[in-house]
Amino acid sequence: MLTGLEGLTFSVQTFGCQMNKHDSERIIGMLESLGCQEVAGPEESDIVIFVTCCVRESADTRLSGHVMSLKDHPVRTGSPLDERIIAIGGCIGQRDGEALTQRMPHVQVVFGTSALHALPSLLLQAASGARAVDTHEDGVLFSTDLPAHREHAWAAWLPITVGCNNFCTYCIVPHVRGRERSRALEDIRAEAEACVAQGVKEITLLGQNVNSYGRDLHGEPRFAEVLDAVDATGIERLRFATSHPKDLSEEVIRRFSTLRSLMPALHLPVQSGSDRILAAMNRRYTQARYLDLIHRVRDACPGIALSTDIIVGFPGETEEDFQQTLEVVDEVGYHQVFTFIYSKREGTPAATYPDEVPREVAQDRFGRLVEVVGLRALEQNQKDMGAVVPVLFEGPSKKDPRLMTGKTPKGQTVHVGAPENGCVPEAGSIASVRITEAKTWYLTGTLL
Ligand code: SAH
Ligand code: SF4
Ligand code: F3S
Repeated sequence: MLTGLEGLTFSVQTFGCQMNKHDSERIIGMLESLGCQEVAGPEESDIVIFVTCCVRESADTRLSGHVMSLKDHPVRTGSPLDERIIAIGGCIGQRDGEALTQRMPHVQVVFGTSALHALPSLLLQAASGARAVDTHEDGVLFSTDLPAHREHAWAAWLPITVGCNNFCTYCIVPHVRGRERSRALEDIRAEAEACVAQGVKEITLLGQNVNSYGRDLHGEPRFAEVLDAVDATGIERLRFATSHPKDLSEEVIRRFSTLRSLMPALHLPVQSGSDRILAAMNRRYTQARYLDLIHRVRDACPGIALSTDIIVGFPGETEEDFQQTLEVVDEVGYHQVFTFIYSKREGTPAATYPDEVPREVAQDRFGRLVEVVGLRALEQNQKDMGAVVPVLFEGPSKKDPRLMTGKTPKGQTVHVGAPENGCVPEAGSIASVRITEAKTWYLTGTLL
């Protein structure tokens, strides 16, 4: 019988949002600190961990496929285990708990979204042949005391709230992540300071709706104070995700013109441009109010890059409703839009709504939306032709290893050729680049 996890190999596959990416970095850091070794693929892994998402149906079905494909693979030669351990965490773990081990009998461990700390002991139980499930909702909410193995040493996710109180009628998140809870400002400050001391260049504050940070603690949102506190640590670049338009306050908008580190980029999900659909989604703003916000944001920060999320095919959406969504895309000129076809989620109010939009109609609208999104994004990038911008370099490009890739303050990806003098900027360093080419989803430039 194993008494520790030391020497075991593992891999983590992550689905869903940045919250899951953050959790995975903590899981990897924690297992490494216990003597486990991360390996690239499931074949070489004694432990395979899935950090899952159920926001759309496609994510649900994908998980079963991945787990099933592992079923008949024998454990690696030399493994101290008789059988590979499969562990499921994240939102499907939280939602389905025990039922997952019944549906997929070769899954031995299920851990919920606030049970990261319990994972080592759950894995040990599984190693001795027991099934182990922990989906307690009152577990540790912010697992930030665990060591993080960051994908990039210079970029840190920093969760400031968990859960969501908004109950958009299509969305499963409040049902799996629970009510919104905020982390103490002192905790956030301390972690941000530690990040800066470790050489982190960019912090992204995380929450389903960062704008309502503090409402549970103080009776009113205090997100602007969080921005001030993190800026004051001396961090180079500060970003946040996600914002609900109904809670984006004037104080926060003002920070885009006053805070040194706050990057000129804002993700502000609109979901639909039709007031009728917005009301049915329980979004609590209108198209006019959303566009007014956009104007105020642009007044505070003229060159800001805006991005959004849009759902097409929500129950009852007509061609006219959809046209209003296209109108918003045209008017705002987003740098990036995450587009989704509505996916019915059991347990949400919209799942019972009549007038479902036929798949072909939703697909057709989706295609037309993607086209307009691309045109507008290209126009936005073209505005940066000839500009000189500070780029935070990430390393060789995945497309072409002769190129270096980095991010502009607005969050655009830039590819840069190696300079003739051979002085390639180090990953994690910031250098000036002149933009020479603009494409829909990236820029090309030369190092100055
Ligand atoms: N809290 C964040 C993100 C939530 S999930 C926010 O409110 O912005 C990310 C995106 O998934 C949402 O913005 C929405 O566009 C999309 N989404 C959520 N539920 C969906 C569903 N049932 N069908 C299709 N897209 C969905
Ligand atoms: Fe879901 Fe709405 Fe909460 Fe975002 S704000 S997580 S879309 S319920
Ligand atoms: Fe998905 Fe859970 Fe995030 S459902 S979008 S991983 S909060």
